[in-house]
Amino acid sequence: MITSKELRQKYIEFFKSKGHTQIPSASLIPENDPSVLFTTAGMHPLVPFLSGEKHPGGKRLVNVQKCVRTGDIDGVGNQWHLSFFEMLGNWSLGDYGRREALKWSFEFLTAVQYLGIGREKIAVSVFAGDDDAPFDEESYNIWLELGMPEERIYRYSKKENWWGPAGETGPCGPDSEMFYITDKEPCGKNCQPRCDCGKYVEIWNDVFMEYNKVNDGEYEPLSQKNIDTGMGLERMIAVLNGFNDDYQELLKPVVAKIEELSRKKYGKNYEVTRSMRVIADHIRAATFIMGDDSGVAPSNVDQGYVVRKLMRRAIRHGRLIGINQRFASVVARVVIQTMENVYVELNRNGMKVLSLIDEEEEKFLRTLQQGLKIFRKQVKKIDNKKISGKLAFDLFQTYGFPFEVISELAGEQSFSVDEDEFQKEFEKHQKLSRSASVGKFKGGLGDHSSKTIEYHTATHLLHRALRDVLGEHVEQRGSNITRERLRFDFSHGAKLADDEIRKVEEIVNQKIKDRLDVKQKEMSVEEAEKQDAIGIFRDKYGKRVKIYSIGNYSKEICGGPHVNNTSELGYFKIIKEESCSAGVRRIKAVLQ
Ligand code: SER
Repeated sequence: MITSKELRQKYIEFFKSKGHTQIPSASLIPENDPSVLFTTAGMHPLVPFLSGEKHPGGKRLVNVQKCVRTGDIDGVGNQWHLSFFEMLGNWSLGDYGRREALKWSFEFLTAVQYLGIGREKIAVSVFAGDDDAPFDEESYNIWLELGMPEERIYRYSKKENWWGPAGETGPCGPDSEMFYITDKEPCGKNCQPRCDCGKYVEIWNDVFMEYNKVNDGEYEPLSQKNIDTGMGLERMIAVLNGFNDDYQELLKPVVAKIEELSRKKYGKNYEVTRSMRVIADHIRAATFIMGDDSGVAPSNVDQGYVVRKLMRRAIRHGRLIGINQRFASVVARVVIQTMENVYVELNRNGMKVLSLIDEEEEKFLRTLQQGLKIFRKQVKKIDNKKISGKLAFDLFQTYGFPFEVISELAGEQSFSVDEDEFQKEFEKHQKLSRSASVGKFKGGLGDHSSKTIEYHTATHLLHRALRDVLGEHVEQRGSNITRERLRFDFSHGAKLADDEIRKVEEIVNQKIKDRLDVKQKEMSVEEAEKQDAIGIFRDKYGKRVKIYSIGNYSKEICGGPHVNNTSELGYFKIIKEESCSAGVRRIKAVLQ
């Protein structure tokens, strides 16, 4: 059996031997990029570097990235779907091309000292071509040269063989995917990788990031041609070990704890197994989101809302399989124990995470009780034994009652629930909230618009000015930039006084008037510390970092990009100062 630990090591070692620098996993909460809520792939934190910024680690990078994908939370519960997973990735930033990328992928998969998968067990796909980009003949020919028989090279359209951008705009390109051919019977004559019947399992994706998707949906060539590859760790472990789901290794101790708590067995009954998977996956994802150094607590907005949804779904499934005591933090503790060697931040932030989980679980249980009272009262008024979709949606919306809870409660009293109407209400609401958030998710550093770059430089000035006015205890806790404003979270215990706000504005505007040059230099972390640079030191870019200095005023570790001179910025104004969480303040500011 090959373990996750061995797989991570082999992967990193292999790509190091091909001249790659190992970089640490970036935060799960994207910095300066409001176009998505979470880091969904290893390429995501690298967007500025795929677009031409110089990375301090060089042009060849490799890492293991923690990722969260929330597009289909409700789909979790089957064998393979996870909302949190680890991705192994290697990158060429304008360096090597398709030939090396595909050759190395194939070598790593098949060489006996690495994964040793039989060549006959692998099929691949390449981009077939359309109006935006041509057929990827080069990849096709490379696969032939590598010995892949023609009939196992599939040509697919954009739907299958194109990756990115991570948000609405940004780097993307055609890709070539690798599939493991299982021993399962084909689903029919036309069984092939894209049919999803389980005969073919996707194991690796090599993306040729050479386009930039811009706002009006057009594809422009990127300034450099990149390679971005990604391999899901859990999936690969399952394939290599012949497991029939993703819950047999890293998640096994977590499932064992759930078995103990529920006194039920995993794998016997489909419904019970499904609930156990939901609990294991969701609590792991929630633990990682809260346990990140830029961690987010449960709330009703953005990432916090996702954490809340994950937690509530997990707790609800706990009840379904007969766990009646508070249990979520007991499961989270096992997640932390199994993962903290690799993700040390879980150890650092573990106590905080466990208490947030306890609090959230209590809150949810109170909500359920309260909702139950309302439910009983409302039900008394109904004489046709039918609960309208509107009432069901109200209970869902206001009290966080999942639909299954409502229909279960209804069932107990021989009531039925109008599910169709509930769905309609639900969709109506989804549409409303989506259109409300469209504005918010536009832009971001992903699209490199000049406005977001200006806000990025202004953020550095603000950070320095806050330290000057409030003291050196001020540290960045989060940053989020749109084309309309910057948002900066920082450690500080008290509300800012009006004159403090005015002072900060004055300093920033003075630095803009001073027409300071913005310069960039690479150095070791030690050197940066010696020079008193500020910024997030902890394991972000690896051993070498980039320092951006603004005149002699600010010196900060950062990936960029930035404007060349502060005179490009305009007039700086703070429009809001508020509390963000305990000991953390939030400022929103604009450049006019
Ligand atoms: N970004 C690509 C993916 O997520 C390759 O890493 O599949």
